[in-house]
Amino acid sequence: MRIVVRNVRKRFGKVVAVDDVSFEVKDGEIFGIIGLSGCGKTTLLKIIAGILRPDSGKIYFDDVDVTNLALEERKIGFVFQDVRLFNHLTAIENIAYAPTLRGEQDREELVDWLMGFIRADLSKSTMPTELSRGMQQKISLARAIASEPNLLLLDEPLAGLDARIKSTMVFELRDMIKDVGVTAIYVTHDQWEISSIADRIAIMKAGKIIQIGTPEELYYRPVNEYVATFMGGECNLLNAYSLGNSQFKIGDLILKGSRNIENGRNVKLAIKLDAFIPNGRFEAKIIERNFMGPFTRLVLDINGIKFIAKMPSKQVFNVDKVFVDIDPNKIVVFER
Ligand SMILES: Nc1ncnc2c1ncn2[C@@H]1O[C@H](COP(=O)(O)OP(=O)(O)OP(=O)(O)O)[C@@H](O)[C@H]1O
Ligand SMILES: [Mg+2]
Repeated sequence: MRIVVRNVRKRFGKVVAVDDVSFEVKDGEIFGIIGLSGCGKTTLLKIIAGILRPDSGKIYFDDVDVTNLALEERKIGFVFQDVRLFNHLTAIENIAYAPTLRGEQDREELVDWLMGFIRADLSKSTMPTELSRGMQQKISLARAIASEPNLLLLDEPLAGLDARIKSTMVFELRDMIKDVGVTAIYVTHDQWEISSIADRIAIMKAGKIIQIGTPEELYYRPVNEYVATFMGGECNLLNAYSLGNSQFKIGDLILKGSRNIENGRNVKLAIKLDAFIPNGRFEAKIIERNFMGPFTRLVLDINGIKFIAKMPSKQVFNVDKVFVDIDPNKIVVFER
């Protein structure tokens, strides 16, 4: 189902929690919303679900205006940060809950199919409380999917889980959601998690959406410094000025950027850590290194200017200098 959010606003006293937000979620898409604590993510989800009414604006499911429909009429599946399973039912009964209510004969098939995603041998009598929190959260998702919702809303479902468990679970959740093909909105403040699970992402700040794009677009084409530093971890931010012809000067160094700015203008360059290409024309002294497996994080000195870079470990093993180029496509230019 396609979801349209149009000019939605919600205020709590003096706090504008959601400030003129508009976006569309395509049918079958996993749409991510990311932003710092308090930026309005949960409020927005509640408005889409019908738990809260917006002060103004509209919500459409396909082409139907649902702004005034109650929660029960919207057919929405939820997964929250705190696991909310029925602890008096077994894990399997939890998954089968909605199909059982509907009185469906074929519910075993649906439940078996969902169980296929949860690679664990749950016995018929396993209770939710016997399971790890990660597993409980997978059961929550399976239960939500089994209710065959129009839309799945996930609000920080993996928050508080161990980073290692989280990094594999995020792919399992994505597989489950994609296989069933349900439209989903996934909220978190973890940028790695959102980039792994979402087809497109909206970045929220203080109630507003700053940019919407694929993970790659947000990473390589951020619209401002906020997005550049928010997505994709560390980023070099450097003051420079334009020489025209997409060339920029920082100290004695002249770099080519991803777009042209009028000669003489002050700019800020956002240079991603993966912009540094080995065997280039700039000599870079390695001042610091942190081994991270396939990549090594380096602090480089090029003509007296410091850069943070991430390069393939085997290219920088046991050397104290490297020759690099900086990929112009990975140098984003902002006017100052
Ligand atoms: N029922 C309410 N009454 C008053 N203020 C509220 C209410 N719900 C949310 N707010 C305020 O609205 C703003 C947005 O809150 P919201 O819970 O939507 O943020 P969030 O992005 O989900 O944050 P978090 O990442 O911490 O969950 C905050 O300033 C919050 O204090
Ligand atoms: Mg929240």
